[in-house]
This record gives sequence, C-alpha cells and structure tokens, in this order.
Amino acid sequence: MNRVFSGIQPTGNIHIGNYLGALKQFAELQNDNECIYCIVDMHAITVPKDPKELNESILNVAALYIACGIDPDKSIVFVQSDVPGHAELGWILTCSSYTGELSRMTQFKQKSKEKESAPTGLFTYPVLMAADILLYDTSIVPVGDDQKQHIELTRDLAVRVNGKYGENTFVVPEGRYMKSGARVMSLDDPTNKMSKSAENEYSRISLLDSPAKIKKSVMRATTDSDGIIKFDVENKPGISNLLSIYSAFTGKTVESLEKDYAGSGYGDFKKDLVEVVNSSVKPIQDKYNDIRESDELKKILKEGAEKANAIAEKTIKRVKENFGLGIR
Ligand code: AMP
Ligand code: TRP
Repeated sequence: MNRVFSGIQPTGNIHIGNYLGALKQFAELQNDNECIYCIVDMHAITVPKDPKELNESILNVAALYIACGIDPDKSIVFVQSDVPGHAELGWILTCSSYTGELSRMTQFKQKSKEKESAPTGLFTYPVLMAADILLYDTSIVPVGDDQKQHIELTRDLAVRVNGKYGENTFVVPEGRYMKSGARVMSLDDPTNKMSKSAENEYSRISLLDSPAKIKKSVMRATTDSDGIIKFDVENKPGISNLLSIYSAFTGKTVESLEKDYAGSGYGDFKKDLVEVVNSSVKPIQDKYNDIRESDELKKILKEGAEKANAIAEKTIKRVKENFGLGIR
C-alpha cells in the first residue's frame, strides 16, 4: 500500500475548486492506500489570523473532510500543530533549502507582491509543506496543479538531503494532479482560479453555500456573447470553466456535454448546472451538519494526532541520527 499525504489550510469558504481539485480525490484514494489527511493550521498563520476564527475554521475543515467522504476508520485525520514533528523537520529542511529557490516560488511572489516586507513564514511556507510530506515517508501527494512547484521543491529537498545525509533519510514523493476539475476558475473572472479569499463571494461556490446563493453565483457567472456551448479555454474561458465543473461533478465528458447542449443557450445550460451543483453538495452539507457540533469530531482529531505522531517520531529519530543531532 502506498502512503498518501495531503493537507488543506483551515480557512473559511472551502469551495468546489477545493472539493474537485482535492477533497474528492482524497476520499477516492483511501480505499487502496494508507492515507493521512492534515489540517495545516501552522501554514494558516503565515498571514495574520484572528485566533478565534482560526480555531473555528480548524473544526469546520475537519468536519468537511469527514463530510466529503474521508473515513476516520480508514484514514488518519489530524491537525498539523498537534504533531510537533512538523515544526522540527521544517527547521531541519530550512537549513537545506536555498533562498534562491524559495524566491522563485510563484505563490510567494504573488502573495508578497504588494508588500514592502513579507513575513518570513510566507517565504519558508513551502519548506514546512515539504516537512509535512517527508515526515510520513509519503509516496503520493494528491493536490491541485497550483501546488506543482511546491511538490517539485519537496522532491528536490528530499533528493538533496538523501545525497548528503544518506539515501534512507527520505522517501522521494510524487504529486498526483487531478485532470478534470484540477483547476476550477473564478466565476466572475475565469482567467483566475477560484479562490477562498476573493472579495466577490459570487466568484466562488462554497461547499456550505445555500441553494439560493449557488443559483445566483452560477446564473451570474461570466460567459461570452456568442452563446455557443463549446470548450475553448483560450477564446471562451467562462463557458469552458462551467463545462469543466459540470463534467467533474457528473462524470460526463465535456464532449458529450457539448453534444447534449448543442443548440441550447447559456441560460438553459446554467439552470441545469445549478441543479447538478446543488444535488452534489446537498449530501456533503447534511453530513457536515451532523458531525460539526458532535463530540465525535474532536475525538477523531485526537486519535488521528496520536497515530500521526507515532509515525512522525520514527522519522524524526532517523533524520536526527543521519544529521548527527542530539545525544546518542
Ligand atoms: P488552499 O485553498 O490553497 O488551501 O487549497 C487546498 C487544496 O485545494 C489544494 O490541494 C489546492 O491545490 C486545491 N485548490 C485550491 N483552489 C483550487 C481551484 N480553484 N481549483 C482546483 N483546486 C484548487
Ligand atoms: N500548500 C497547500 C495549499 O495551499 C497546503 C498544504 C500544506 C499541503 N502542506 C501540505 C498540501 C502538504 C499537500 C501536502 O493548498
């Protein structure tokens, strides 16, 4: 069995991009793999967070993990800061990373663009992500394709450390990028990806949105003026994005959708898409409401942290030995 690891930041507005690009495949992977799913709260504090909101978000995201089909009897679900090995390995890896390679990370460049001085944590964020992955001898990391550069950095760091400190130090992981729905674009500007933080709430569909909000978001979504339902990302990014979303939720290919809707207008297509999205998120919302306020949730996270810690401690021991750290 392969070890799978992935993480999501505890922020509000988990949207259908997160679901189609990440959560849905997390659930699918747990049948044939040993999966570890983390709520990466230490990544969340790379930008200032209100402590109360952060704490709420941790439980919200944990509940969404379970609601999206992650089964705590099959997979380990836990909160990053409950396992000290992440910070420990994060530092050790920081010492093997270069400022040059971190400066090239597009996510850092974007997030620090308008700031005169960026928090150091924002800069070293990818190294902590590498630590998350390498701590568990992970072989597969399911993520959206926006994380590709971070996965490549993780691989580079693993290979570099193994070359210097011993080939047994780390397992070199691979990213697994979902094709359909790997990149869900914003509904109001389909040239940018759907984001948790965009100001316009109609630019995204959050998993916990009401049917009315979903309807409004889809009906308002930017399309173009020629009215032809055709997949063409270059020239028709709006309708192409909606076709991808439809396809990802239903499993129908984009080609078959183009055929089904040949001759229909955007309005009819959008109405059907509203139904598709609403009926897909309904079971998730029902399950979320069941688990969010239950004692069960905290119990799952506590047990998850214990299991994760047992694996992490072994890796830290091996890494410290290879680096010559501590008393032996
Ligand atoms: P984040 O929102 O950055 O915490 O992302 C959590 C997970 O969702 C990561 O695996 C991302 O790659 C994925 N993700 C985020 N936004 C999108 C999007 N618009 N489309 C597809 N996947 C996404
Ligand atoms: N950086 C990821 C994101 O923004 C979240 C993340 C942190 C992650 N650590 C991880 C994803 C480890 C996969 C594996 O989406």
